Amino acid sequence: MTVIRSVFRGCGAYLPERVMTNDELAKIVDTSDDWIQERTGIKQRHIAAEGEMTSDLAFNAAAAALDNAGLEPDDIDLIVLATATPDETFPATATRVQARLEMRNGFAFDVQAVCSGFVYALSVADNFIKSGQVGRALVIGAETFSRILDWNDRTTCVLFGDGAGAVVLEGQEGKGTSDDRGLLSTHLHSDGRHHDLLYVDGGPSSTRTTGYLRMEGNKVFRHAVVNLADVVREALEANGLTPDDLDWIVPHQANKRILDGTARKLNLPSERVIITVDHHANTSAASVPLALTEAVDDGRITRGQLVLMEAMGGGFTWGSALARW
Ligand code: ACO
Repeated sequence: MTVIRSVFRGCGAYLPERVMTNDELAKIVDTSDDWIQERTGIKQRHIAAEGEMTSDLAFNAAAAALDNAGLEPDDIDLIVLATATPDETFPATATRVQARLEMRNGFAFDVQAVCSGFVYALSVADNFIKSGQVGRALVIGAETFSRILDWNDRTTCVLFGDGAGAVVLEGQEGKGTSDDRGLLSTHLHSDGRHHDLLYVDGGPSSTRTTGYLRMEGNKVFRHAVVNLADVVREALEANGLTPDDLDWIVPHQANKRILDGTARKLNLPSERVIITVDHHANTSAASVPLALTEAVDDGRITRGQLVLMEAMGGGFTWGSALARW
């Protein structure tokens, strides 16, 4: 049986120039490099410059992905941009990226699922491609979380960073088996009852302010390990695969202990887990495409390998995307 698969044609990333170390943070709030590294694995994060917006980061990542794919903006039919930190309440940041790319055709919109945003955006784009409505899609995860952090709250401000990553998906014919290249499946979940554990205390219809990120970190941590292990099993079962079949797992980068805990629960050797949280911190929707691009660029992920992406974020939202590169 012939099916349409969303094949990864290229990927790219962008990180703001400014690097902030844990020692610098220790001058702002009562924390230490030792505490941050021991509890999270984070050593540093990138922070957007004054005036540098999510669309700027997204544009740079998108341009790099198009270059990597050997394509022009007008070869793209759709931009889906995952972000929880848009430039403005409206219009969609994706349309600002479309304008900067000088892309004259197609359509562009944002998806909001916080840290799961990129996996959600992949799933949305995949469905547009599989239905035949678009041929190629640019899927971007971009965030400036530094703008919504309470820099007086040591329990949250040490955890996040800014950045962007992007991929180009292209519809190609496959045989309908797990040997096909491209996205093999996506699985999405949410459970709105957990709002109070992770949210931003502002917004246009509640307070008319932007607000700050609030989180009960240890409760989020416990949910994350359970939900992420479940969603990996779900993806493998749906494709008749086992953890041994996976070449790489590219997880959302929230905390090194969550990554280790999830790998242990699945009996996955840690060498097969792509880890960037040490130098990027948690970049929310940007973390998976940033990690993916790093591992493709340094030659770890190669054509034909089986790659599982997973993420969990505020909402709660969580999900997976299984692909053959
Ligand atoms: N420096 C020093 N001490 C700190 C800091 C800090 N930066 N932050 C908290 N502490 C203190 C606390 O005040 C507490 O002190 P107390 O015992 O005197 O009360 C102590 O450290 C332990 O605090 P816990 O919150 O229990 O520490 P924990 O081991 O759970 O680690 C952490 C906290 C790192 C936040 C962890 O819970 C975590 O990573 N959770 C998951 C977060 C996550 O994944 N979030 C992203 C989800 S995705 C999204 O959508 C944004």
